[in-house]
Amino acid sequence: MESFSCPICRRPYPADVRSLFCPICGDPLLSAYVPKSPSIHRRSPMGVSRYLDFLPLDEFDTSLSLGEGGTPLQVLNRLQAKFHTPPLFAKNEAMNPTGSFKDRGSVIAIHMAKALGFETVGTISTGNMAGSTAAYAAKAGLRSVIFVKDDTPREKILAAGIHGANVIKVRGNYAALFWKSFEIGRVLSFYFINSVDPYRIEGYKVTSYEIYEQLGGKAPEYLFVPVSSGGHLIGLMRGFLDLRRAGLISRLPRFVGVQARGCAPIARAFDRHKKTISPVTNPRTVAHAIANPQPPGGKVLLRMLAANRGAMAAVGETEILKAQRALAEYEGIFCDPASATVLAAYLKMTKQGLIPPGARSVLVITGSGLKTLGDVDLSKLRIAQADLSDLPQLMSAWK
Ligand SMILES: Cc1ncc(COP(=O)(O)O)c(C=O)c1O
Ligand SMILES: [Zn+2]
Repeated sequence: MESFSCPICRRPYPADVRSLFCPICGDPLLSAYVPKSPSIHRRSPMGVSRYLDFLPLDEFDTSLSLGEGGTPLQVLNRLQAKFHTPPLFAKNEAMNPTGSFKDRGSVIAIHMAKALGFETVGTISTGNMAGSTAAYAAKAGLRSVIFVKDDTPREKILAAGIHGANVIKVRGNYAALFWKSFEIGRVLSFYFINSVDPYRIEGYKVTSYEIYEQLGGKAPEYLFVPVSSGGHLIGLMRGFLDLRRAGLISRLPRFVGVQARGCAPIARAFDRHKKTISPVTNPRTVAHAIANPQPPGGKVLLRMLAANRGAMAAVGETEILKAQRALAEYEGIFCDPASATVLAAYLKMTKQGLIPPGARSVLVITGSGLKTLGDVDLSKLRIAQADLSDLPQLMSAWK
């Protein structure tokens, strides 16, 4: 029987998606499922079906899938040469069906929504989870209700609305909205699949198994991940912990969670050796997708990082935008500013000599730049306009 447990006090709870937080600690419950001698189904393609044994799912219904997972692990050889870094890779999660890693979590949670008989699912989102939840709900024939922040970029709102979702731009406190959504869900029997939903988090584990296989059956020495609520990094850590428990790896990567300095509640708590999070009062960063002033998974993440030699880092606005540009110009990866934080943090750490030569690092690129076009500074790009008749002369300067 599937159940949940509190990662802080270890109390077990029934698997009830209407009650997803420990009443004693207030922290998100996680799946208590522990894979017993799991094997990788090597005949299945990368994605959920290949790693089904590791997940609290009896069967994978391909009719609920949009083809998530199996994203490339790209060698960043040009950036490596430019910055003289140790071996560097990007796991490009922007290649998922709706342009972000969220699809990995949405597909698992939607399986649960169907199995539990929900007709309506919902989410609250800074944008990527909105489009992802709406798309997977559409494929499953479920209604969706999406609450987004009032200042969510137009592209992200449209990317959710196009799937027939009911999208509501909500003014007011984002943290309060998070709790409100569960209240609404309980009253109306909607399943709110939010950022730290235990099934969503289980879906993120699949990325870790893929990285392990793509590196030839090894864990990288370092894994850099952008962090907002904490759900994604919690899932990735659980994935590598599963691999270690199964005897497939002997040591974990060093996990580095990255936030923007303008909204870094978890990195700040980590630096100050705190066990709890103090909310950020005035979040300000171009990395909107990770600007969560009161992350619900913060305490759990701090606890997991402390137990597994992980760390948090924070990076500034100029570094973020430079890193976004560098990934695009040197590697052909157009990611959003939130994703670019990981390259910024990595370059800072290599400069400080914190990454040993030969140590392989994987940067998890979480979302596509195509959904945050408004953050690109046009004046910095080589874009010109010319009359047809002037073209030959203009281009002759290029010879
Ligand atoms: C592009 C991108 N990166 C990272 C994150 C952070 O994920 P989490 O809230 O699971 O920490 C988000 C969350 O919305 C996101 O959209
Ligand atoms: Zn508890």
